[in-house]
Amino acid sequence: MRIDIVTALPKLIESPFNDSILKRAQEKNIVEIHIHDLRIFAENKQKSIDDYAFGGGAGMVMTIQPIDKCISHLKSQREYDEIIYMTPDGATLNQKLANKLSLKGNLILLCGHYKGVDQRVRDHYITMEVSIGDYVLSGGELAAAVLADSIIRLIPGVLNDETSALTDSFQDNVLAPPVYTRPADYKGLKVPEILASGNKKAIEQWRMDKALERTKERRPDLLGE
Ligand code: ADE
Repeated sequence: MRIDIVTALPKLIESPFNDSILKRAQEKNIVEIHIHDLRIFAENKQKSIDDYAFGGGAGMVMTIQPIDKCISHLKSQREYDEIIYMTPDGATLNQKLANKLSLKGNLILLCGHYKGVDQRVRDHYITMEVSIGDYVLSGGELAAAVLADSIIRLIPGVLNDETSALTDSFQDNVLAPPVYTRPADYKGLKVPEILASGNKKAIEQWRMDKALERTKERRPDLLGE
């Protein structure tokens, strides 16, 4: 998979890809991340990428020219499955969407800033709009990092334990069960005995029961209740 991230603030989005699982996914050549600084594509002398909104009102709007130049350049190099604009009024990200996008080959993520991008960009270049939740961030960069992480960890070979993403919360529409590690007794706080019993079947049943219990308690909507 290849993900191209188009942003006015490249430094803001670099670090999540330079550590841990996302770094290893790149080292293993499972995913390529390319971050593009929009300013480089600006053709005006000041290298500005935003301007006042037509019709007035507070806040700047990201201009179409540098976005067009950057996206057109990328599209001339390869085909993209989706060109995604990160915006609070997009479709809310969930596990189902992350699963779907993890099967794609090439993605562009466009990060919005200020009051957002000129609507013509959304109308003519963007194929999908994604929000990471009903709150407003200062820009799309953190949202793009969240979306990329949720996708990349699902690609086979990224996680060491292949089954580990399959047992995440939200896969199968249930939350993950509680987990414990050593010591079995910490100042009287004990780990449920069954987990140390060695009885694999009973442990599996316990985990399923707990996952269901937690889902009923915290997210009954996932069970359609
Ligand atoms: N940009 C600003 N807020 C956002 C959000 N909640 N999701 C995606 N992009 C955003």
